[in-house]
Amino acid sequence: MRILVTAGPTREALDPVRFLSNRSSGKMGYALAEAAVAAGHAVTLVSGPVCLTTPEGLAAFVSVTSAEEMFATVAACLGEMDAAIFAAAVADYRPAAVAPEKIKKTGEALTLELVRTPDILGSAREPLGFRGLLVGFAAETENLRAHALDKLRRKGCDLLVANDVSQEGIGFDSDDNAATVFFADGRELAMEKAPKHALASRLLTLIETSVP
Ligand code: CTP
Repeated sequence: MRILVTAGPTREALDPVRFLSNRSSGKMGYALAEAAVAAGHAVTLVSGPVCLTTPEGLAAFVSVTSAEEMFATVAACLGEMDAAIFAAAVADYRPAAVAPEKIKKTGEALTLELVRTPDILGSAREPLGFRGLLVGFAAETENLRAHALDKLRRKGCDLLVANDVSQEGIGFDSDDNAATVFFADGRELAMEKAPKHALASRLLTLIETSVP
């Protein structure tokens, strides 16, 4: 299969030296890309800024910084894919304006105006017209099941991998993860805490067996 994986955080510039971002390490997305390469798939990895070694054997690797750039890259190649795995922790907001020079401090409080970034996963079905297997991720701190099911339906996913990021030692920036996988047909599968590469292999098997 031709598989697209998005991974890592995005950075939304505030001025030439500052940005807004999040704690994503990219480890889960990279582990999925590696598992897919090992299984013989043609993998395109679109990655935000991470401190990880680029996996060997990829069909393509595109390094991006912002949500806008990730969206443009995904939009350009999604049509060729059989499956798309959106593991990136895309910033939902960016500063409304990027200051051309470094913002200088004053004695006053500073208020930032933030505007929405494109929802890449949420655009995959419409307007991008993707008909392949669509896999989303959800990082939640409460009401995991309700939020995950809402995201699965709203974004047109076939599978949604939900992490409870309020638990210590899993999820953001850790080597381990635990997840519940929700399927569009109503099935649910709990995956116990395991190293991210072990979880990635299991997820990839689920993805392979879910392709019609
Ligand atoms: N995602 C994306 N583009 C965005 C935001 C999120 O592609 N701008 C994808 C992520 O890669 C992930 C999924 O959407 O697969 C869930 O992201 P999340 O931010 O939790 O979803 P939201 O619908 O924005 O939910 P929330 O209400 O929690 O902000």
